[in-house]
Amino acid sequence: MTDSTPPRKRLLIRTWGCQMNVYDSARMADVLAPLGYAPTEQVEEADMVILNTCHIREKATEKVFSDLGRLRDVKREKGGDMVIAVAGCVAQAEGAEITARAPWVDIVLGPQSYHRLPEMVARASRAAGAVIETDFPAEDKFDHLPETAAPQGVTAFLTVQEGCDKFCSFCVVPYTRGSEYSRPAAAIVAEAERLVALGAREITLLGQNVNAWHGEGPDGRAWTLGRLARRLAEIPRLARIRYTTSHPRDMDDDLVAAHRDTSALMPFLHLPVQSGSDSILKMMNRGHTADDYRRLVDRLRAARPDLALSTDIIAGHPGESDADHAETLALIRDIGFAQSFSFKYSARPGTPAATMAGPVDEALKDARLAEIQALLRDQQAAFNRSRAGMVAQVLVTGPGRHPGQMAGRTPWLNPVHFDGPDSLTGQVVPVRITAGHPNSLSGVLPMPDDATTRERPAA
Ligand code: 5AD
Ligand code: SF4
Repeated sequence: MTDSTPPRKRLLIRTWGCQMNVYDSARMADVLAPLGYAPTEQVEEADMVILNTCHIREKATEKVFSDLGRLRDVKREKGGDMVIAVAGCVAQAEGAEITARAPWVDIVLGPQSYHRLPEMVARASRAAGAVIETDFPAEDKFDHLPETAAPQGVTAFLTVQEGCDKFCSFCVVPYTRGSEYSRPAAAIVAEAERLVALGAREITLLGQNVNAWHGEGPDGRAWTLGRLARRLAEIPRLARIRYTTSHPRDMDDDLVAAHRDTSALMPFLHLPVQSGSDSILKMMNRGHTADDYRRLVDRLRAARPDLALSTDIIAGHPGESDADHAETLALIRDIGFAQSFSFKYSARPGTPAATMAGPVDEALKDARLAEIQALLRDQQAAFNRSRAGMVAQVLVTGPGRHPGQMAGRTPWLNPVHFDGPDSLTGQVVPVRITAGHPNSLSGVLPMPDDATTRERPAA
């Protein structure tokens, strides 16, 4: 060790919410590594704890405050020798409340300020109160973040777009993450190439509204997400490309076409619909009808017949009647989703829906959510069962839970377990699916005489 090596310190990052937060947590770890921070899972040995928070529903927010209560005790036991930071969307939206309710917090930073962490850590060591950074700075944080340092593994995330201009009635994202910003294509391609050099075979492009991405291409022209996907598909050894989360209104013809002509673009799409009732969709400010969504799914399936869909549904938006709820169930039946996330509507202060007439009774919301979830669960189970008997191209992500077992993902994002050698990690291999369970699949490596083809050359 040379004199210039910083002392070794331990960093614990807890992450809530969406995959964008997972990505941001990795970048915060990258930013702090040069200061000597190495990751730990043990809160007792942590010199710094970052809570990377989610503000999307009330429950997610409350969890942050209960975690902060437990951290106060740990910090006290360590004689105050611990830096506590709150990052993410709760920090952005409720910075003042955090410092008032939890004065033992040292740093509060919004999602656009991660590149300033080292400077904030230095300031926190001198400051009496918390150091707060929740403005949307004009400069682009991506230009200030170091290049990806730590390998993310076989599957990696890459943020291409942040923020949202859609202003759905119920959603805090346009307020917490600000307006839409697209990273330039060249920066994305360079980061994808680095991730692949570090071992990634699959990259998931992330954005709050990812298909609204419209970055400047290296040719100086405005590129669409479809164009970007085609360019990324040219990277040798990048076998799979995904993107999430999309808005139905931004599924343009070029992106639909990319699903037809770009085999690396996986046949799985998370496309939130939120409701199947036209009047609720209008109140939600979604900008499309239930039939628009049906037609869009028809176009997507015509382009890529094996496409599986996933969605988000909200039960009990203000004004939702029994008839509206029945229309949501009808839409779900019509589409048939392979996966889903469904939520009870949660009023978020500052959003238009929070003050709308006709709030739905909690018990009724519970009942509607239960009905929606039972249907969606059945659809997922049916989809998984329908994979049994197929030979699926599986990207092997690493060892499974049992000795000799490997784990991977199908093109439709199902986790698959099968017996095989460790050496398969990182390869796309054919796996004969033997059973579809509610949340995963079981499979076996086919015998040599099985007629199978590889999805992409294993390179
Ligand atoms: N209440 C319930 N669900 C919400 N979501 C966003 N805001 C709310 C809210 N206030 C859901 C939407 C969105 C997903 C990420 O979270 O379905 O697509
Ligand atoms: Fe929120 Fe709607 Fe934007 Fe999605 S599209 S982030 S739900 S405002």
